[in-house]
Amino acid sequence: MNNLVILISGGGSNMLAIARAAIRERWDQTLNARIAAVISNRPHAAGLQAAAELGLSTEVVDHTAFAGHADPRTAFDDVLRQTIDAHEPSLVVLAGFMRILTPGFVVHFEGRMLNIHPSLLPAFPGLHTHQRAIDAGCRFTGATVHLVTTELDHGPILEQAVVPVLPNDTADSLAARVLTQEHVIYPKAIKAFLKSQA
Ligand code: GRF
Repeated sequence: MNNLVILISGGGSNMLAIARAAIRERWDQTLNARIAAVISNRPHAAGLQAAAELGLSTEVVDHTAFAGHADPRTAFDDVLRQTIDAHEPSLVVLAGFMRILTPGFVVHFEGRMLNIHPSLLPAFPGLHTHQRAIDAGCRFTGATVHLVTTELDHGPILEQAVVPVLPNDTADSLAARVLTQEHVIYPKAIKAFLKSQA
């Protein structure tokens, strides 16, 4: 069985799109895959309640609980890695997970950890991608699913979707249009990845 572990920080709409695809397409049978856990760094992430309502196992590793450590980022990543490893994952899926991960963590999961980024990488790595695309006068933007490497937002690309930038777009209206396509390409990328590993 291929255990998937999905990491979220907020609403988890990408996690929900993946979970619904897994149910609808019977990934347990078609891909020998299951979502073993949804883990958040934020105890009140709305996506945790939504995941539980779908019957998914949820866990929290609260990054604020490590503030007193000499190296909080590494201490958090170590506990997060152990929490993930307990599920023996074939694939770790970052889905709206808003933490910069340490190189040690990334190397531990390298080759089996994906992220979705709301731009057409390598354009606009980092934050505020929609406003930057509008400010640059882009006619198109989109979303990218990529393997996570130690270089932020720069790993091998697995899937992309192109989305038009409309003349009166705001960052919010553009984000909503891109998010709709994220929900299409993430399940597609995960299926292709799992098939490639079979
Ligand atoms: C989305 O814009 C996604 O591109 C980025 O995080 C945001 C929220 O994602 N990675 P979700 O709704 O929590 O899945």
